[in-house]
Amino acid sequence: MSPHNSSTAVRVEDVTKSYVNGARETPVLRGISCEFPAGEFAFIVGPSGSGKSTLLHLMGALDLPTSGEIYLQGRAMSQLPQAERDRLRREEIGFIFQSFNLLKNLTALDNVLIPFMPVGQAGKFRDEAKALLRRVGLGDRLDHKPSQLSGGEQQRVAIARAVLKNPSLILADEPTGELDTKSGQQIFELLRDLQQERGATIITVTHDHRYIRDEDTVMEILDGKFASQRGREPQTT
Ligand SMILES: Nc1ncnc2c1ncn2[C@@H]1O[C@H](COP(=O)(O)OP(=O)(O)OP(=O)(O)O)[C@@H](O)[C@H]1O
Ligand SMILES: [Mg+2]
Repeated sequence: MSPHNSSTAVRVEDVTKSYVNGARETPVLRGISCEFPAGEFAFIVGPSGSGKSTLLHLMGALDLPTSGEIYLQGRAMSQLPQAERDRLRREEIGFIFQSFNLLKNLTALDNVLIPFMPVGQAGKFRDEAKALLRRVGLGDRLDHKPSQLSGGEQQRVAIARAVLKNPSLILADEPTGELDTKSGQQIFELLRDLQQERGATIITVTHDHRYIRDEDTVMEILDGKFASQRGREPQTT
């Protein structure tokens, strides 16, 4: 069997990541291997600073590992030309950032439409973007700028933006970090609906174990390595 069959959404192969600032090198990921089958609902957990966001950024093709390889739908990210990697990220991946990454001069609605602006298709998706904002409870905030929205509302805009392009892979970094329990539950209902309706693979970093169900896969990072995995056999490399 091919190690990268098409039913694997993401494969992480012996990945290390160090950040270099001047002469100082900070090792963050120290040899991580895992596979996320297409359509899986998975969580990455671990203490602050353990490398969760770093790993998620690598899986979202926002950055490349120091060593090892990330495969998205069987394609090795370090082997792809930058333009191809950018296209894949734009079309296939919905990324919900820990820091929202909203543009402060744009309304909530236009922030949701950002991914379609460079390709001139924002108009076509306007109604769907509005429907998504309603679905996350922001139907009456379409024209608000980020400074006129609460932290949780900004987070919901970021989620609607990630979902609008109907990505096969959604990577969410603490998507409920700013939300109360009820809003947090709504966000997870939305993410789980997407997984069911569209077969999307959803990988979420969270501190909040209340949203994790028994059947979900849970990977725990400690000190830049996987300490435990629930819902699958550990992998050795
Ligand atoms: N650009 C950078 N340069 C140097 N060090 C960095 C950089 N980005 C992250 N780090 C360090 O890498 C480590 C892992 O960071 P990361 O953001 O992946 O942690 P995390 O698990 O997501 O934490 P949190 O739960 O607080 O969000 C941290 O110790 C951080 O200080
Ligand atoms: Mg983080």
